[in-house]
Amino acid sequence: MADRYDAIVLGAGAAGLMCAARAGQQGRRVLVLEKSEKPGKKILISGGGRCNFTNIGAGPANYLSSNPHFAKSALARYTSRDFLALVESYGIAWHEKTLGQLFCDGSSKQVVEMLVVECAKGGVDIFCSEQVAEVSQEDGFTVVTHAGSYSAPNLVIATGGPSIPKMGATGFAYDLARQFGLKVVEPRPALVPLTLGGEEVLFREISGVSAPVVASVGKASFSEAALFTHRGLSGPSILQASSYWKPGEDVAIDFLPDHTGNWLLDRKRETPRATLRSVLREALPDRLADILAEKLGLETELGNASDQTLRTAEDRLKSWSFRPTGSEGFAKAEVTVGGISTAELSSKTMEARKAPGLYAIGEAVDVTGWLGGYNFQWAWASGVAAGDAI
Ligand code: FDA
Repeated sequence: MADRYDAIVLGAGAAGLMCAARAGQQGRRVLVLEKSEKPGKKILISGGGRCNFTNIGAGPANYLSSNPHFAKSALARYTSRDFLALVESYGIAWHEKTLGQLFCDGSSKQVVEMLVVECAKGGVDIFCSEQVAEVSQEDGFTVVTHAGSYSAPNLVIATGGPSIPKMGATGFAYDLARQFGLKVVEPRPALVPLTLGGEEVLFREISGVSAPVVASVGKASFSEAALFTHRGLSGPSILQASSYWKPGEDVAIDFLPDHTGNWLLDRKRETPRATLRSVLREALPDRLADILAEKLGLETELGNASDQTLRTAEDRLKSWSFRPTGSEGFAKAEVTVGGISTAELSSKTMEARKAPGLYAIGEAVDVTGWLGGYNFQWAWASGVAAGDAI
């Protein structure tokens, strides 16, 4: 008997819904199987409930992957402007918050509703509360859930990554990929707060203080706010840097991003009676200025400090090294770095080379965006690439 569906999409998240809608609107008979009781749960909580649905500047340079070229094709064929046009066609009001980040004026719910309507336009069936237990392949793919068994010649893995297990996120996509002989790049938490220990626990005393900084790991640098927490470091610049960080590496923080040259020497000439603490308080929150001055051990007036001492202090403030003891893990990670190896997939269609008819999209794949709407843009773009190819 012929299959009822041309494709089964596993996961009604951002990537799965987009893929299903595109394929359905091109005449394919598509079934989406979702283990939660409703579709798009991560979209609903995203962007503080307003969904940072794309970034207007999204390009391949904003993504981490073992193959930095992999995302180029899909991102070029479905851009942030394309998604914005879809959002506007539904009359969803939006605004740019900062750095090209586009949010709904209203609620994330509008994005989920839009995607569900797009699926309905393509005649897509979305079955919720259907956790996939088993997949087999024999003349097409057969998917077994506790509620039933479904078959189709095409299967799309869109079950996301293991970030936020509290929401039911697991490494299911990786297990399935391995079952079909696909390699998985070791996953690790990304966009995640970092923890401090040793002498650096002193910074926990200023938990709640934030400041605009430049945070760097290797060559990756992010100019945004850093936040000190009771466990270590967070805030957008740290979350961004965390995606590049590996255990044993340092994170360098420039606490004086607006000051270049010999700022402290200039201040010594202008205000020799000022202390380092009082000068730093002009550039930074008081409690942060105090702890940095204390750590530098410069309690004297600037006029009494040698030029070399001030140069050394400024160098340190411009590149303060933290050695995180770890991260807050998948429990707090917004996304996952690593995943199904891009070497296994066609960058045009997201189809597995070793298993024709099998596709992988979204966060399940080893492509991870920066903070700021880039991850959804990858979900949309990779979903479209697979949806158009099915
Ligand atoms: P996603 O996780 O969205 O969907 C996977 C779906 O598969 C889920 O619905 C899951 O229930 C289902 N599933 C899993 N296993 C299954 C199984 N065995 N059987 C059936 N179904 C199964 N990004 C961004 O660009 N802008 C933002 O504002 C935010 N904000 C944000 C906030 C928070 C708190 C988090 C945790 C993450 C973000 N992100 C974000 C990241 C973004 O949410 C993420 O990159 C995308 O949701 C990934 O989309 P996917 O469709 O790949 O996975």
